[in-house]
Amino acid sequence: KAVLLRDYTPPAFLIDSVDLDVDVREKQATIRSRLAVRRNPAAKDAAQPLVLDGRHLELVSVAIDGRALAPGEYTVDEDHLRIAEAPAAFTLEAVVRFDPWANTRLEGFYASKDGLFTQCEAQGFRCITYFIDRPDVMSRYTVTLHAGRERFPHLLANGNQVAKGEEDGERHWAKWEDPFPKPSYLFAMVAAKLDLLEEGFVTRSGRKALLQVYVEPGKIDQAGFAMHALKKAMRWDEAVFGLELDLERFMIVAVGDFNMGAMENKGLNIFNTKYILARPDTATDYDYYGIDKVVAHEYFHNWTGNRVTCRDWFQLTLKEGLTVFRDQEYSADEYSRAVARIQDVRDLRAYQFPEDAGPMAHPVRPDSYVEINNFYTATVYEKGAEVIRMIYTLLGREPFRKGMDLYFERHDGQAVTCDDFTQAMQDASGVDLSGLRRWYSRAGTPRVTARGVYDEAAQAFTLTVGQSLGQGGEPLHIPLAVGLVGPDGVDIPLRLEGDAAASGTTRVLDLREAEQQFRFVEVTARPVPSLLRGFSAPVVLDGGLTDADLTHLMTHDSDPFNRWEAGQVLATRIILAGVEALKAGKPMEVPTAYVEAVGRILASASRDPAFAAECLALPDEAILAEQMEVADPDAIHEARRRLKREIAERYRTRFEGAFRHFTVTGPYSPDANAAGRRSLRNASLGYLMAIDDSTARALTFLEYRRAENMTDTMAALECLANSAGAERERALGMFYEKWKDEALVVDKWFRAQATSDLPKTLDRVKSLLAHPAFDLRNPNRARAVLHAFAGTAVHFHAADGEGYRFVAEQVVALDRINPQIASRLARAFDRWKKYDAGRQAHARGALESIRSAEGLSSDVGEVVGRALG
Ligand code: ARG
Ligand code: ZN
Repeated sequence: KAVLLRDYTPPAFLIDSVDLDVDVREKQATIRSRLAVRRNPAAKDAAQPLVLDGRHLELVSVAIDGRALAPGEYTVDEDHLRIAEAPAAFTLEAVVRFDPWANTRLEGFYASKDGLFTQCEAQGFRCITYFIDRPDVMSRYTVTLHAGRERFPHLLANGNQVAKGEEDGERHWAKWEDPFPKPSYLFAMVAAKLDLLEEGFVTRSGRKALLQVYVEPGKIDQAGFAMHALKKAMRWDEAVFGLELDLERFMIVAVGDFNMGAMENKGLNIFNTKYILARPDTATDYDYYGIDKVVAHEYFHNWTGNRVTCRDWFQLTLKEGLTVFRDQEYSADEYSRAVARIQDVRDLRAYQFPEDAGPMAHPVRPDSYVEINNFYTATVYEKGAEVIRMIYTLLGREPFRKGMDLYFERHDGQAVTCDDFTQAMQDASGVDLSGLRRWYSRAGTPRVTARGVYDEAAQAFTLTVGQSLGQGGEPLHIPLAVGLVGPDGVDIPLRLEGDAAASGTTRVLDLREAEQQFRFVEVTARPVPSLLRGFSAPVVLDGGLTDADLTHLMTHDSDPFNRWEAGQVLATRIILAGVEALKAGKPMEVPTAYVEAVGRILASASRDPAFAAECLALPDEAILAEQMEVADPDAIHEARRRLKREIAERYRTRFEGAFRHFTVTGPYSPDANAAGRRSLRNASLGYLMAIDDSTARALTFLEYRRAENMTDTMAALECLANSAGAERERALGMFYEKWKDEALVVDKWFRAQATSDLPKTLDRVKSLLAHPAFDLRNPNRARAVLHAFAGTAVHFHAADGEGYRFVAEQVVALDRINPQIASRLARAFDRWKKYDAGRQAHARGALESIRSAEGLSSDVGEVVGRALG
């Protein structure tokens, strides 16, 4: 059942226009479609039958050019409507019915609390009507919606409203026209009762547009930041890429039941409430940051995704990698570039690197899939963005912008491939991207090894760099940004032998061979090489540096990313050595040099509190597990905990001081400065709670009660949720009482308990499933409990296998409701082979129990099948 990239053929038919009439009644939607169909002149074979995609539809009638087809003239199965004899050009009319209230998959047209919503990417449009549901079929859409006025006051679809009116029986209708041809996955419609926040906007060239944010009734006071973010993103895209809004009206609709983060439907973005709703007392700084980023991301898709779209789903990274790169750059400009980069790389290592090392590993442009929904992955999105970033690094800002301009000039209005993108970049810049293109077809994380030798007599520093991906094939082109840090902590000006041009203190080396040497001259003292500055390529680096070298970089490197990175590498070494010591029953050692370097971070924290907070964060347990041959989650947890506690005890007064000093006064704002202070302050609280004595608990509980914003509230609550003190249940109880009517806040309450590292967390999670507020059908709620639990290192990977068995049962239960969400949960098993034999046996049993469940979806089937190999 796998679909292969190499099997691509152009569609047999094209559909120039789509006219939909949607009639919403009690428990039923009736969709009448009129499609202008013609044979594709570019099709391989001119006699092919017409095959339309359609799922979960009841076909009422079908007609060609006004003549109803008799039963023998077409066939219908679970996935298709086939018409053997089709003319060269014709109008196809079909009437279908289904019940949106019974659609728990949340794909296609479905009901949520306040009305009816759609999600079509990747293949949801076929759950609305019969269609050639693939992105290289682009059509002009007209949509008329009819529904009860009282229950569904807003009737929305892509484009512009061109007519509306009243109907008998308290009903009304609205007609929408989208002037832009689009693929079916960008179709959207909404029939709902919502509140509306709207504003005018004038684009750089003077075009007037109406911006609208629709939210659940009563929540207008949580819509302002999303609107603010939208306007900022629009200005940014004008300034940085010269891209303007091309619509008269841009709508955002927030819905509480949504499978993903958000969706870039043309002119009618539909969002998970999580990425729209925010108020200082309900949303954390991190939530605000996420809203800013996702609103921008979906808006940016209007050009990178919608104006130029994907030829087929193997090209998904064409729009996603590029749009993630754009939202990352936007965030870097709006907040702190260094902190944004650190967070992106931390996520890449926590999610994408493990994915690339496990059974679901695939190239950023996959070459096969069973269920496309399984390929909305960290690899396609985040590693895809790294590939774009490498192109940006190799070309430079101006040539990259020229490449983007050329890409739009060539491909506006088309459905294209990743090769079309890299070709435009290469043609506009003259930079040879042949080696860079290989990144699109190779799975796995490359390993880069670097060794430096200093020749004092020759005043030369020779760097030998190698790459390997362990699967043969030609080497990749890897941009390796390097600097040389002198013994005084100052960067040495770089001069490559045989290269007349001086190149400042950071230089991007082109690693194109399996092994290469770079010789720097006029190096007046033995330097410490600062390698892969800014994380210039998504690789695992073995830099061959000593602890002393790393401590030097941690304190002096002019590249903030590498200053942070040096601290992470050191902490990783200490924790992994601690793991071995604990297993051997020996005491864990924490080198003084490291502790002193941490002290220097604290002492200079006021220069950049957000950055200091990042430096104080120890590597995640998931990232540490990846570094071990056989991961030992309990030992990792214990060693990490001990390191944190030791630092906390050593600097207790300084952490207490920072906690007081970085208090933010005045009205709440989620800006980088205020958020950075809170982040350092709460990192300090986290250290104090690593001691978890009565003083720390009292301070945290006091903070919990004093806090006036959700950032500080959650920081305190999360600390208490990991603490055995009596304050824990008191705080959790108070929190639920206060917030039980705010769904997104209740999610935080569930999540804090499900991710606790206290013993008995699994029992707690099981009892949470019986809580009246728990609902398996709501993706946010399911994720707050199940996916959150499955992401914990110690409890999911419990040695007795209880964590695995529990999650396996939930995957099966969820699969009957919503295969996409179930399949994500099943991904928790990805790294099962990284654990010891006992755990592996439990994981295998759990995976097999999923595989043998009756009526398993292809979504979960593919993930579990790959895991079992
Ligand atoms: N295009 C959307 C976005 O990144 C996400 C769609 C995800 N679709 C899915 N089937 N998982 O912005
Ligand atoms: Zn996207």
